[in-house]
Amino acid sequence: MRGIPSRNLIFGSQPSNSFAFVMFGFLWQGSSAVFSTTCGRGRVDKLGMASKPYLEFPLQKDGEYDEVKKQREKCREDEVLCRRILQMAKEVSQGENHGSVKPPPEPSPLRKARFFQANMRILITGGAGFIGSHLVDKLMENEKNEVIVVDNYFTGSKDNLKQWIGHPRFELIRHDVTESLLIEVDQIYHLACPASPIFYKYNPVKTIKTNVIGTLNMLGLAKRVGARILLTSTSEVYGDPLVHPQDESYWGNVNPIGVRSCYDEGKRVAETLMFDYHRQHGIEIRIARIFNTYGPRMNIDDGRVVSNFIAQAIRDEPLTVQLPGTQTRSFCYVSDMVDGLIRLMEGDNTGPINIGNPGEFTMTELAETVKEMINPEVKIITVENTPDDPRQRKPVITKAKELLGWEPKVKLREGIPLMEEDFRKRLGIPRKN
Ligand SMILES: NC(=O)c1ccc[n+]([C@@H]2O[C@H](COP(=O)([O-])OP(=O)(O)OC[C@H]3O[C@@H](n4cnc5c(N)ncnc54)[C@H](O)[C@@H]3O)[C@@H](O)[C@H]2O)c1
Repeated sequence: MRGIPSRNLIFGSQPSNSFAFVMFGFLWQGSSAVFSTTCGRGRVDKLGMASKPYLEFPLQKDGEYDEVKKQREKCREDEVLCRRILQMAKEVSQGENHGSVKPPPEPSPLRKARFFQANMRILITGGAGFIGSHLVDKLMENEKNEVIVVDNYFTGSKDNLKQWIGHPRFELIRHDVTESLLIEVDQIYHLACPASPIFYKYNPVKTIKTNVIGTLNMLGLAKRVGARILLTSTSEVYGDPLVHPQDESYWGNVNPIGVRSCYDEGKRVAETLMFDYHRQHGIEIRIARIFNTYGPRMNIDDGRVVSNFIAQAIRDEPLTVQLPGTQTRSFCYVSDMVDGLIRLMEGDNTGPINIGNPGEFTMTELAETVKEMINPEVKIITVENTPDDPRQRKPVITKAKELLGWEPKVKLREGIPLMEEDFRKRLGIPRKN
């Protein structure tokens, strides 16, 4: 409490032996306030909830005396303040107002220098991965962009970036985001994190470190250089959702101790850190909640369902549908995803904003589509499911449409052949005539 006086006020309507009342407890520390509300029935003086050094109001009996009057005046003022705080809390919880308490940190003075013609310096963590490398391609199209990729190559590969290595506006740094990084940049796309269950479960402690320490490091960098930072969060923050479809106001149904928690809970903490840095330090943040994305350059054997089915169909292996097969997912083609991420970064909204394709498919339907389009000879078989696999997933993208003017353009039946072509090239298996 750093010696700042704290007080807990009890106020309400006329106390009597039995009445409904609202209790607001204030705990002030500098400009931040923590509060709680409790509703109940009973006598204020019997609650025993207001401990020292909190103020307690004497019960009114026959006549009001001056001290009580003064306290009542003060109480009214506090009540107004309290209502305001509750309103702010409500707005924040509903995603209406993520207003920062501080102005954003100043970017480098060079950015404002009269004769300094600067490019936009963009850092992409995890830029050697699937989505990251497509984002690099898109950002490099703009001659005013300089792109710096930081990656530890855990699931990514230099191969994904080979067309840019040696380009004067491109830099590639082998670096692990769990270590701090000191560079000057204007924007940070923070993607570093394995996205496939096979990889994130392989070393769950490292996965959660990447999400927590890695995000802290990137936020620290954003704070130091005044950069805007975008986090690629995930639909996994909704867990096994109890509402369907999922919009951004849903708080999720996540197992905190399961085998997927290193990823799901890691991303939830990463989102918390983003908002805490935003409110406490004025950092400009953007959060994208990405739903299943597919396309060329996905790791062929990374266990994600689209890559699994396409690789199996190309290799003449049975398509393995995890039981019960009725679980649903929505699939967004990677070029649509990259477009959504750039719009979010360039726009004015912090998010979180769902970015995904609302077209919903059961796993059996997906297997049948892949079979029909790539290899009608192949069998579809069922296999055991993994723990905590969500039963349904489908984004509500109203926010993305209204705030970013974004919606996906590529249909699943258009995206599958593009991915098939890339997989055939990498597997060295040409199409049969
Ligand atoms: N692909 C999807 O369907 C999907 C869905 C939801 C969210 N996301 C999120 O999007 C981002 C990119 O996903 P992706 O599909 O491209 O995954 P990916 O595994 O292909 O890419 C992740 C990249 O991060 C790198 N990386 C991992 N840990 C790192 C560390 N500690 N330090 C530096 N680099 C590290 C990997 O080497 C890889 O290049 C991830 O944050 C993921 O959580 C993806």
